[in-house]
Amino acid sequence: MELSAWIEALFPKEFLQKVFRLLPNPTFEQRMRWDLFKRPDYAYGVYRAALTAQALDIKKLSAIEFGVAAGNGLLALEEVAREVSRHTGVDVDTYGFDTGTGMPPPIDYRDNPYLWQAGFFQMDEKALVSRLTQSRLILGDFTQTIPGFVEQYSPAPIGFISFDADYYSSTISAFQLLKEDHAYFLPRVLCYFDDMIGGDWELHSHYTGELLAIDEFNQQNPHMKIAKINGMGQKRVVPNWWHELMYAHHRFDHPLYTKHVFPDKNWQLKLGDEVPTN
Ligand SMILES: C[S@@+](CC[C@H](N)C(=O)[O-])C[C@H]1O[C@@H](n2cnc3c(N)ncnc32)[C@H](O)[C@@H]1O
Repeated sequence: MELSAWIEALFPKEFLQKVFRLLPNPTFEQRMRWDLFKRPDYAYGVYRAALTAQALDIKKLSAIEFGVAAGNGLLALEEVAREVSRHTGVDVDTYGFDTGTGMPPPIDYRDNPYLWQAGFFQMDEKALVSRLTQSRLILGDFTQTIPGFVEQYSPAPIGFISFDADYYSSTISAFQLLKEDHAYFLPRVLCYFDDMIGGDWELHSHYTGELLAIDEFNQQNPHMKIAKINGMGQKRVVPNWWHELMYAHHRFDHPLYTKHVFPDKNWQLKLGDEVPTN
């Protein structure tokens, strides 16, 4: 066993992550493996999307955040996009959608108004715009800004979406984007859903909020699904709750859905071989 494997076996992963955080210049691989990005969920999603794009010979993709608020997530998404582009050679455009004026009024109990209320999470647009380097900020209610978005912006295929608009109703509105033509999407879109766990006040279930929105989307769309990435936590080194929040949007009748992307182009097993896990 190599020294690094011994070290990993001997020390708790959370401890090693803290050690890696002290490195002055961690490599991209170290940042990915040890979740050193500010938003490791965004980093994982955008990186996996870029690898899929590479495998499909797609040179540029789009990453979207629904629900921007002050802009911390969008700034983190920009950083991830920059790093992933540098590492993979796949360009990543970033978009942020938000009212700009905070949460709209909740429609009913399905929006979990016991947690969120109209006017929460207002944006200082000027301050945010002054810090953004490449993102397009699309302001207005999703119901107003999603229709016409693809015509106006001609986005590169969308490969990652963060759904962070809290409400059931807003998540349903954001899903309208998924109705657009396959040309605007990778066949599988990595998704992050922010509002499924939360703190102790948040009692999320399949009867309200994002989980209900996903269930309804899946009931209504036989050829498209939004499905949890099964066993996500098993694929990652450092245990964390974001693994529970990672989904993939599958577009089964996308012309590229069935195209083989696995790196090994002739996967064979000799008797006695271990099955590779990634
Ligand atoms: C929790 S905040 C987002 C936090 C942000 N993603 C971050 O990581 O810092 C939720 C945001 O969703 C936006 N939002 C909720 N419903 C919306 C809708 N129907 N249309 C546009 N924006 C909406 C709100 O304005 C609010 O800023």
